[in-house]
Parts: sequence; structure tokens; C-alpha cells
Amino acid sequence: MQAVILVGGEGTRLRPLTFGTPKPMVPLFGIPFLERTLGRLKEAGVNDVVLAAGYLPRAIEDHLGDGSRIGMRISYVVETTPLGTAGALRNLADHITDSFFVLNGDVLTSLDLRAMIAFHRRHGGVATLHAIRVDDPSAFGCILRDADDRISSFVEKPPRHEAPTNEANAGTYLLERSVLDRIPAGRNVSIERETFPELIASGAHLVSFVTDDYWLDIGRPQQYLQAHGDVLDRKLELASSGDPALSNRGRFWYVGAVGAPANFRLPVFIGEGVAIDSSAIVGPYAVIGDRCSVAAGAEIRDAILWDGVEIGAGAGISDAILASDVCVGSGARVTTGAVVGHRARIAADAQFEPDARIVADAETIATPT
Ligand code: GTP
Repeated sequence: MQAVILVGGEGTRLRPLTFGTPKPMVPLFGIPFLERTLGRLKEAGVNDVVLAAGYLPRAIEDHLGDGSRIGMRISYVVETTPLGTAGALRNLADHITDSFFVLNGDVLTSLDLRAMIAFHRRHGGVATLHAIRVDDPSAFGCILRDADDRISSFVEKPPRHEAPTNEANAGTYLLERSVLDRIPAGRNVSIERETFPELIASGAHLVSFVTDDYWLDIGRPQQYLQAHGDVLDRKLELASSGDPALSNRGRFWYVGAVGAPANFRLPVFIGEGVAIDSSAIVGPYAVIGDRCSVAAGAEIRDAILWDGVEIGAGAGISDAILASDVCVGSGARVTTGAVVGHRARIAADAQFEPDARIVADAETIATPT
């Protein structure tokens, strides 16, 4: 069994985080999201992975290399122009010798991959698609199936009132190699809009594996924040043995020791080498990366700080994501959906409009009070 992970997208909705970091390398509790997905594959016995890359591929390759560090075999196929979700598969057909998983690079799920393999073998189709039940299918592809789980039609993003089912495509597929022959080469092809509907129309045997697993697309800032909150709330276990981020004490998670006893409001997650002033208030739902510092009187809640972030005295951070090495001046307010790019320096007492996207020259757009 092999796996392909689609990691070629630009991740525009997570900008400016993705200006410097490709979406698969965006951390989830200090560890790149892609590494966690690889860990799930490894646990299911799938060690041979091809990454369909395109945007900032070097950042991925520099971190994971050939996979030997994590006990896997990883190869890379880099697209010069985006080929879409099926075109990317056709482009790496030479690397595929077996049945293979296809995973979207930005899906956080508790799906049991071993159970999906067993289901696929039992049904003997050319493709098994993971589906989840959702309240509003209009943002997804709807999968209609018969009593034997055979897929009868695939309706991509129907208007809400016309949705024929609430069972939605969850972005994990298990395909037989023969599916690759059905994808045209050399152009952008969507697996959801072209390949699956064409296969179904031609009478091919596709099956739907419907589960009630945890499922979240982390590709937008609010969902990225929610993913952290859900893990802190234990709605999802990040099961991966030996992962230091999993050493937790109740709802207080930490990797390193915290220098001084700060005011923690649980749950919080604190990385290594973090310095927090004893008068700062941290939490609830604060995720603080390695080597961050938080000065006197600062308050951080509902926020994610990547590594090396400095928070000045009396600053307030909430409902916000701050990329690596951001420096927030004293008294500044970074709140209400703000996303701050790498190395941005935020002036003292600055404030921002809701949903601000703040890049490195933040002083010029900050509004001092
Ligand atoms: P947005 O720009 O914010 O929509 O993000 P995105 O570019 O990642 O697109 P989207 O979330 O729709 O992509 C879903 C998954 O497919 C992600 O893991 C992407 O990396 C991947 N993906 C999307 N398009 C391509 C492509 O053309 N080639 C490859 N190799 N992967 C792709």
C-alpha cells in the first residue's frame, strides 16, 4: 500500500502564514501538520509516500528529506504549474505500483485508515471515498450511495436546499492503480469535478466509506484555531507515540518548563524555552511555541503563537495567529481574527481592524491609539 499526499496548493486563505511556510508545514502544536498526517499513515502500516508538491517544495523537502528520520520512504514530484487534484496524480503515475491512498494535505481527521483498507478490500471497487455526515453539504461534494455502499452519483458543491444527501466527500481516497489510466495527462484535472463523475458514469465500481469521525479542513484561520481548541478539549487525540507534544497534565499541556509561575487559565499549551512574566495572563486556549516571551501584564487567549514570538508589556492577544519571530510592542492589541506574518514588528499601542492580515512592515499600517 502506498499513499499520495496533495501538498501543492498555495494556501491563499491562510495568508500571510503561507507566504513563508507552505500549508503542509504549518505547525499543529509545534509539529508540521504534514508530519502528523505522515504519522497516521505510518501507524496504519503505509510507509511509502509520494508528495505531490508545487508551492515552496524546498521547505517541505528540507524538513522531511527522504523520510528516513521518521522511518518512512518519501519521494517528491513537483509540478511547475498546478495540475489540480487528479492531474497531480496522473503526473506521478510512474511512482505508483500498488493500491494507494490519496490524502488532502490539510485535513485533520480521526479516520481509521486500517479500517478503510479493510473496507476497500471487502468491497473490491476501483475506488473507496471517505465520507462524513455534515450539517451543510453545500461547501462539499455530496456522495450518493446505494444499500451496498456503491456510489451512484457525485454532486460537487450543490446549493444547500438541493443537496441530495448530507454525506460529504471528506478528501481521503483509496484507489486502485488503474484509476490513473482514466486521468488525462498534461493538463489541470479535478478529481472531484471530472474523474469521479466520469468513472461513475462509465459504470466503474466506486464505494463510499461513511464514518462519524472528527473531521476538519484546517485551511482557514478560524478552522486552524478551532483545530487547536478541539485537541485541547480532547475532541481529537493526536495519537502518535513518542510525540513530546502529547505529554500533558490534565488540560495543561507543555513541552518545556515554564520559567516563572504565570497566571494560566486552562487549557494552554506551552513550548520549550518559553519565558512568561508572573503577572501575564495566559489562556484559555493559548498555544505558545518554542522560545516565546511574554512580558508583564500581557494577556493571551484564544491564540496561536509560533516559535520565537515576543509579546510586549500589557499587550493583548486574542482570536489571533502570530507566525514565527513576530514582535508585538507594549500595549498593542492583536485581536478579532488577526493573522500576523513571519517577523512582523507591531508598534507599541497599535490596534487593527477585525480580520487584519498583518505583514512584515506592520508599523506602517498600525494605528496607534
Ligand atoms: P487555498 O488557496 O486557500 O484554497 O488552499 P489550497 O491551495 O491548498 O487549495 P485547497 O485547500 O482547495 O487544496 C486542497 C488540497 O489539495 C491541499 O492539500 C492542496 O495542497 C492540494 N492541492 C490543490 N491544488 C493542487 C494542485 O494543483 N496540485 C497539487 N499537487 N496539490 C494541490
